[in-house]
Amino acid sequence: MDNNSVIHIVGARPQFIKLSPVLRALDAMGIASKVIHTGQHYDYEMSSLMFEELGLKEPEYNLGVGSSTHGRQTAEMLSSIEAVLIKESPPIVLVYGDTNSTLAGALASVKLGIPVAHVEAGLRSFERYMPEEINRVLTDHMSEHLFCPTQRAVKQLNMEGLAGVFTGDVMLDAMKTFLDMSHPCPVEGTFVLVTIHRQENTDNRDRLLGILSGIRMLAREVKVVFPVHPRTRRILETMEYSVSEGLLMTRPVGYLDMLAMIRDAMCVVTDSGGVQKEAFMLRTPCVTVRNKTEWPETVETGWNRLVGPDDVSIYSSVMGMKDTSPAEKNAMPFGDGKASHYIAQYIEEHLEKHRI
Ligand code: UD1
Ligand code: UDP
Repeated sequence: MDNNSVIHIVGARPQFIKLSPVLRALDAMGIASKVIHTGQHYDYEMSSLMFEELGLKEPEYNLGVGSSTHGRQTAEMLSSIEAVLIKESPPIVLVYGDTNSTLAGALASVKLGIPVAHVEAGLRSFERYMPEEINRVLTDHMSEHLFCPTQRAVKQLNMEGLAGVFTGDVMLDAMKTFLDMSHPCPVEGTFVLVTIHRQENTDNRDRLLGILSGIRMLAREVKVVFPVHPRTRRILETMEYSVSEGLLMTRPVGYLDMLAMIRDAMCVVTDSGGVQKEAFMLRTPCVTVRNKTEWPETVETGWNRLVGPDDVSIYSSVMGMKDTSPAEKNAMPFGDGKASHYIAQYIEEHLEKHRI
């Protein structure tokens, strides 16, 4: 049984990015892996394009769950994942981040008595209305192995009576592998990069209108590029939102173009967890339209600012942040870019210990 493959469960765009370095590191140690893609994200740009760019092979399983309400989506994943896990009987399951695919993957595994390893454990925004916060807390408390991207995450787990291992952030590993400083930025000249998809921003009409108004205000002075997440696109379609001059709205872009855009933007406006971190790692000032962040290190070091969803806050924060030069220039709380290697080493030791 212990020669069976390690199983990785992913489903959403940022999880494909996190999976890639971990798969490589396990592969380098001769540890076989199989991937379950729940099908949570399925648009070409959200899924296949990522697999192509990251050099990932087709997942062994694609459950094709698609979009639905949280409960139905999670339930469908749960029963489909269970069937695969029974068939594969893996020695360990790896789940990533904080999506419904993470929660369903962890729950299906523990119910079968299969140990779970959580990559990106110990993060908290302390905002229980966020679906991601619930997913993080539950997944951490179900997991036997907790790989933490920051020392703060280790401390947080400690306070909750759990033992986390500091590995650093696999997204830094991915960036080190895939950021080509010579990859041309697809946007010319000075620009602000925007991404907005968090449920609390898109599904609240007032918040979304406030954010859009901020983006328009910026676009009157500087080019604004906004690759639109499908959640946001679908809502904008119902709002008859008209495009204004200076604002370029596009389909989601590939990871390589995205890294180049974050690198070269004057400032980033976002509510994405991953984009906040990447802006920090590339030392591009960031304005985050959220009340709180699970990545407080980016704010404390001066590279990120949390703002409310209104035009004046967004506009004035971007204008205030664009030339920021924080004192903490070299801070890197996300490890040394070898998180995946440490994770693979840990898993190798775990498999060795449990070999029959
Ligand atoms: C999910 C995660 C979120 C993560 C984000 C990454 C949960 C609860 N949320 O949010 O933590 O930050 O992924 O991008 O798991 N849709 C499409 N095509 C797709 C995917 C989605 O059109 O390929 C549309 C559907 O209308 C769907 C909506 O987007 O209902 C939301 O998708 P869903 O996967 O439920 O959540 P995300 O907002 O993408
Ligand atoms: N990303 C991308 N193309 C885009 C928008 C984002 O490749 O059009 C990448 C981004 O660089 C980061 C990840 O997707 O690595 C973040 O995913 P997302 O914002 O969807 O989710 P979150 O990190 O908020 O969970």
